[in-house]
Amino acid sequence: MCGEPFAKRDISRRDITRFLAAGAALAGLAACTPESPSPASSASASSASASAASADPATAAPLQPAAAAEPAEVPEAPAAPEPPAAPQAPFNALKTQHSITDPASPWVVVNKHRPLTPLEYAPADLVQPNVRLAVGGEAALLNRTTASAAEQLFAAAARDGVVLALASGYRSFATQAATYNGYASSRGQASADTASARPGFSEHQTGWAFDIADGGGACSFLPCFAEQPAAVWAKANAATFGLVVRYPWMFHDITGYYYESWHLRYIGVEAAMDMTAKGIQTLEEYFGLEAAPGYV
Ligand code: DAL
Ligand code: ZN
Repeated sequence: MCGEPFAKRDISRRDITRFLAAGAALAGLAACTPESPSPASSASASSASASAASADPATAAPLQPAAAAEPAEVPEAPAAPEPPAAPQAPFNALKTQHSITDPASPWVVVNKHRPLTPLEYAPADLVQPNVRLAVGGEAALLNRTTASAAEQLFAAAARDGVVLALASGYRSFATQAATYNGYASSRGQASADTASARPGFSEHQTGWAFDIADGGGACSFLPCFAEQPAAVWAKANAATFGLVVRYPWMFHDITGYYYESWHLRYIGVEAAMDMTAKGIQTLEEYFGLEAAPGYV
């Protein structure tokens, strides 16, 4: 249970927020984190061991007449209020700012509420990164900045003994239409919308996003990819190279998509590291945008 706080996908984030508000999560967290006890639990532990020592007849101090010691009841001083958490600097405090609407910007936010403008946008600087490819044609292309980041990411993974492959990079409007229509005709539109963006609504059309595969191709585009070395390594290291896992686990009612452990998105090192430092997992939350669970 401790390793799987949200075992079922049908638990919504709103449910979880209510749960947290009820304070139950704090108890759960305490139960799941035996190491690094909090100051409060350390204090309890030392007072518990002090009581235990006093209860030991071999070490107990001689009994004193209670009346001579202290007043019977000393009212406890009210606990000092917790100092407010330091406010986090918003994204617009970062040194370098970018547009969140221009598709040529590394901060462009594309989701089910935010189509690309223009809808048939195509990047002007597509190149093929010098990385291991599991795909050819236009899908092996990325915009120049993302290609460079991918090369650095793949090389660093290789140095750690992890083989990454590029499984899907750029997709034109026409390719995204074919991809989406393929899903819709085989699974129906509702199911297609949980896995594939409609044309004009995909990050792949910007050149800022790409999907990775494991060197051996295990679990490509499947939920079990999350446990493959490629995904585990990428999740832990992507931010160093300006990339984020764009559709994280259990954020589908914000991003509009279930966990895609293979889909990385370039936003720049400063913003990616800032998101990591703040524990923010979605671009919608980071940039203060509304959740986009479905098309409007
Ligand atoms: N699978 C992602 C959401 C896309 O189609 O862009
Ligand atoms: Zn993708």
